[in-house]
Amino acid sequence: MAPTFTCKIIFFLAFLAYNANSHTVVYDVRTFGANLNHDISQALLAAWKEATASPIPSRVWIPRGTWSLKQAKLVGPNKAPIELRVDGILKAPLDPTQMPNKQWEWVTINYLDNFTLSGEGVFDGQGHESWKRNDCHTNKNCVKLPMNLSFNFITNSTIKDVTTKDSKTFHLNVIGCHNVTFLRFKVYAPGDSPNTDGLHIARSTNINVTDSVIKTGDDCISIGDGTEQVHIQNVICGPGHGISVGSLGRSTTEMDVVGIYVKNCTFIGTQNGVRIKTWPSAPATLQVTNLEFQDLIMDKVTYPIVIDQEYCPYNLCKLDNPSLIKISNVKIDNIRGTTNDPVAVTLVCSKTKPCENVQVGNIDLTYNGSLGPITTKCNNVKLSLNGKQNPPLCVPPPAAKQSA
Ligand SMILES: *[C@@H]1O[C@H](CO)[C@@H](O)[C@H](O)[C@H]1NC(C)=O
Ligand SMILES: *[C@@H]1O[C@H](CO)[C@@H](O)[C@H](O)[C@H]1NC(C)=O
Ligand SMILES: *[C@@H]1O[C@H](CO)[C@@H](O)[C@H](O)[C@H]1NC(C)=O
Ligand SMILES: *[C@@H]1O[C@H](CO)[C@@H](O)[C@H](O)[C@H]1NC(C)=O
Ligand SMILES: *[C@@H]1O[C@H](CO)[C@@H](O)[C@H](O)[C@H]1NC(C)=O
Ligand SMILES: *[C@@H]1O[C@H](CO)[C@@H](O)[C@H](O)[C@H]1NC(C)=O
Ligand SMILES: *[C@@H]1O[C@H](CO)[C@@H](O)[C@H](O)[C@H]1NC(C)=O
Repeated sequence: MAPTFTCKIIFFLAFLAYNANSHTVVYDVRTFGANLNHDISQALLAAWKEATASPIPSRVWIPRGTWSLKQAKLVGPNKAPIELRVDGILKAPLDPTQMPNKQWEWVTINYLDNFTLSGEGVFDGQGHESWKRNDCHTNKNCVKLPMNLSFNFITNSTIKDVTTKDSKTFHLNVIGCHNVTFLRFKVYAPGDSPNTDGLHIARSTNINVTDSVIKTGDDCISIGDGTEQVHIQNVICGPGHGISVGSLGRSTTEMDVVGIYVKNCTFIGTQNGVRIKTWPSAPATLQVTNLEFQDLIMDKVTYPIVIDQEYCPYNLCKLDNPSLIKISNVKIDNIRGTTNDPVAVTLVCSKTKPCENVQVGNIDLTYNGSLGPITTKCNNVKLSLNGKQNPPLCVPPPAAKQSA
């Protein structure tokens, strides 16, 4: 009798491990059967169910150690503030076909208010094998890899400190979220891993990304349609393709993009710094307005500043008709550093919807390669200039002038 009794007591204590100061009940996944040698999906789900039902603030805790996690879908609603604290390393299955539900992402977190994801832990997508087979960047009919971290319909929440590493495809999708902060968030994947966007934000409002580091093979942060009020501050990007708004325009159901602020960010060896891209010959007529790109450092970036309304990679579209998307109120200020290509600034807007109120101040970019003098490329843009511009904005270089 005695051992069973002791066991029950321990179980009870572990189960109701209150944090005396904050009155948070802690649900340790080990209490729910997680151990280091087996898939913890079931244990995590069981702990999560208890936590969402808790009337007082709760924390689901994955302690230090390396845990294998086949797949998890953690949904709300939650009755009280809820935290998922990951201090361990979570490993995805090496072979994506081992994930039980083919429609799901690797880890999905949905329908929560006042949620915190925290910890020193790592979400390790183990993508190396899959990258070799991924051709989604060139092939529209490619086989999609179901390996994202996906946050949908999350409000008033914070994602902090955790790392996501080597995702099989997009690292983190943020869809339908409102009032969410990413703080000290880290994304690591090699520069040559395909389609591994760091953070993809769409149909969301009031999203902040602060003090974060994103090293990946594709966009550092990409912003899709229907997104408003995104503050990206103190972020280091690179390698990767930089911060982009778009690509936009492909579908008539797309909604406006309003209020994107990128401030005090550093781009190291990225393909782009900040970029807005819209498809030509595409149906959407939305607006992109109120953007600020300020205090940015470019360290050997190929194209530091880009507005491209003729975005048409791999000839996936036709250039016959201009983009129908209107871009306005763009402030670009204090952009310094070095470029890998002579075209330091590209402002190529739509013929039918010229860019309006593009304010550029204090650009200081240098190029020391052999492909010609540093220059800028501009089309259909209503500019207002102030401060220093190096190179001069929208002035053809001397060589081009002579040949004209
Ligand atoms: C969110 O949770 C924090 C504690 O985790 C609490 O202080 C705050 O009041 C909660 N906010 C709402 C709106 O529930
Ligand atoms: C991963 O995210 C991307 C970008 O939102 C999406 O296109 C893709 O379908 C997602 N993967 C799956 C399996 O849903
Ligand atoms: C988010 O928090 C605010 C302020 O505490 C609250 O008014 C609002 O209802 C919350 N949002 C949701 C969807 O619960
Ligand atoms: C946003 O969320 C924070 C907590 O994460 C909360 O304090 C604040 O009131 C929320 N603001 C709105 C407008 O919901
Ligand atoms: C994001 O940052 C802006 C500017 O610093 C601030 O006004 C806003 O409340 C922040 N939003 C969240 C969700 O933290
Ligand atoms: C700018 O960002 C860097 C991190 O990239 C940070 O160390 C620095 O404190 C930030 N500066 C300001 C003024 O916020
Ligand atoms: C020019 O570029 C090369 C290669 O990136 C670099 O080693 C060199 O220091 C640069 N020179 C100047 C004057 O910036």
